[in-house]
Amino acid sequence: MTVDGKPPRPIWLDEKSGAVRIIDQRRLPHELVIMELAEVTDAVRAITEMAVRGAPLIGVTAACGVYLAVRRDPGDPEAAARAGRRLKAARPTAVNLTWAVDRMLAALAKKPADADPLGCARGEVAAITAEEVANCRRIGEHGLTLIAAIGAGKPNRPVNVLTHCNAGWLACVEHGTATAPIYAAHDRGIPVHVYVDETRPLNQGARLTAWELARHAVPHTLVADNTGGHLMQHGLVDIVIVGTDRTTRTGDVANKIGTYLKALAARDNGVPFYVALPSSTFDWRLRNGIAEIPVEERDPDEVRYVQGHADGAIRRVLVPPPDSPAVNYAFDVTPARLVTGFITERGICRATEADIGRLFPEKQSH
Ligand code: MRU
Repeated sequence: MTVDGKPPRPIWLDEKSGAVRIIDQRRLPHELVIMELAEVTDAVRAITEMAVRGAPLIGVTAACGVYLAVRRDPGDPEAAARAGRRLKAARPTAVNLTWAVDRMLAALAKKPADADPLGCARGEVAAITAEEVANCRRIGEHGLTLIAAIGAGKPNRPVNVLTHCNAGWLACVEHGTATAPIYAAHDRGIPVHVYVDETRPLNQGARLTAWELARHAVPHTLVADNTGGHLMQHGLVDIVIVGTDRTTRTGDVANKIGTYLKALAARDNGVPFYVALPSSTFDWRLRNGIAEIPVEERDPDEVRYVQGHADGAIRRVLVPPPDSPAVNYAFDVTPARLVTGFITERGICRATEADIGRLFPEKQSH
């Protein structure tokens, strides 16, 4: 997969300069702009302002942020820890951020005293990135079995998948989570068609998922956010697959605002609702998602304004009356009881603590 001849990942280390480069996702799909992150501050800002977004990519970016701190100050043993605190505060919901920072700090803490800290930080960024890529590839292989099974029951007709937000390679480095089974099915010649929720307020579905799928020639149709229930009532959705920013050990799922409503509609219509995630997105400390997962509240102007492309430039326009207040919850929590199952790198399981624990026995509470 190439992106206009440019690197096919949303983040990479520039070997020559030692800086980090990202695709600025705020400008997609209309402009493909590469940004450089040279300092921790750049990484924090890229996460907060959503130049990078999506749980696994936020984690990889945070790991790169720790690496940038070590690069700036290799002689200061506290530099990485200070950077870690700033990075962890950049966005509250995706647990991959904390997970990646803690992994970087642990790698630095246990390196031999005479080992080069920069080499250690760079090595750990590479390891985290490679693991996330491999995990997403496996999620694709496991999820493919679900799509193939549905496809076997409707020969010569596409399997209709509904997805919300962008849980594609832009959110994850490669493959994506929710999109990985879709790409795997498409690549194996299983006819698949995707209903893409636009995903207000920032339109990650309309801007990013539609762009990804179009570039991979996956048939798709963009729908307004509130269309899913209607589609399901008319038998037009075979399976819902979404990603997640944080999932409790009991199976409660935080994901982009609006996911919960899709899960309710799916349950009412007997449509299977799957959540695809790598193990870095489980928060093994939490049991009650609604009470315990922090839900980010962002600038209300993201709700009040819509961004698009007109007259050769990206522009923002105001939709409501100028004085109407707005509130912008970025995520919601879908209770485990509405989730048919999880697609993880280790296989598929039901959304119960016992079943999740069977896939990840080392995380079982004793
Ligand atoms: O606010 P965003 O764009 O970072 O939200 C992203 C999502 O909600 C994704 O569905 C989630 O991170 C899973 S990405 C594989």
